[in-house]
Amino acid sequence: MQHSALLNVMIAAARKAARTLKRDFGEVEHLQVSLKGPANFVTAADRRAEETLRTELGKARPGYGFLGEEGGSREGSDKTNTWIVDPLDGTTNFLHGIPQFAISIGLERAGAIVAGVIYNPVTDELFTAERGKGTFLNDKRLRVAARQRLGDAVIACGLPHHGRGDLALGLRELAAVQDKVAGLRRFGAAALDLAYVAAGRFDGYWERNLSPWDMAAGILLVREAGGFVTDIDGGDAMFAKRHIVAGNEPMHRELQMLLKAVAKD
Ligand code: IPD
Ligand code: CA
Ligand code: CA
Repeated sequence: MQHSALLNVMIAAARKAARTLKRDFGEVEHLQVSLKGPANFVTAADRRAEETLRTELGKARPGYGFLGEEGGSREGSDKTNTWIVDPLDGTTNFLHGIPQFAISIGLERAGAIVAGVIYNPVTDELFTAERGKGTFLNDKRLRVAARQRLGDAVIACGLPHHGRGDLALGLRELAAVQDKVAGLRRFGAAALDLAYVAAGRFDGYWERNLSPWDMAAGILLVREAGGFVTDIDGGDAMFAKRHIVAGNEPMHRELQMLLKAVAKD
């Protein structure tokens, strides 16, 4: 498939980082049974992947800024363009040998996400999107699901964990949504959750306490696949408010209204 020069840069960087990450993932399986466990090893793999991405993206677009989960933010000479990168989204899965994790690269240009790549090295699923040009899984054009009723929907979510987030609110949200849908899922990699909404696998998704690198590429993927993405209040402040809700038009609307009502209770 013919990609733009920009997407080619992003895909090449993702594939390069993925090669090492995939090898490291194989290693993690052995480390599960060792006394020390794989935690330090995974931290190193994560940092290594970010370094590869920073180097590769920097070689191709030297002036661009860089915001990565591991190394924080670095301004570039070009103030308009910033890479927003999660080198390993789904760390807990990776650590436990669960093959649901991805590299996520978004490009923010003058405040808008204009390109996104999400790549799962284990399944070799490459999700790409460019503003105005649609979303693709490998060579296949994607559309969000067509389901119209929450009662038929499979919805993905995140769960507050370990001192992070408001557990009571999270449980109220779960109860409210669970009561109305066909199935709830918690897969543990926000970037892939959004990619799956774009692919019509999930009908909708919401989560709180996210960071820009969890969402940047995925937001564009969903929108370019014909879906809707907002914060839980219905606005466009996903990065500032750190929460997100996504789906096709009716699913997004119903889910957003439901969650907003729960937060008010
Ligand atoms: C996490 C994953 C997870 C979400 C967390 C994120 P990480 O990212 O996306 O699904 O629930 O809030 O922090 O730490 O694996 O890159
Ligand atoms: Ca993440
Ligand atoms: Ca991460």
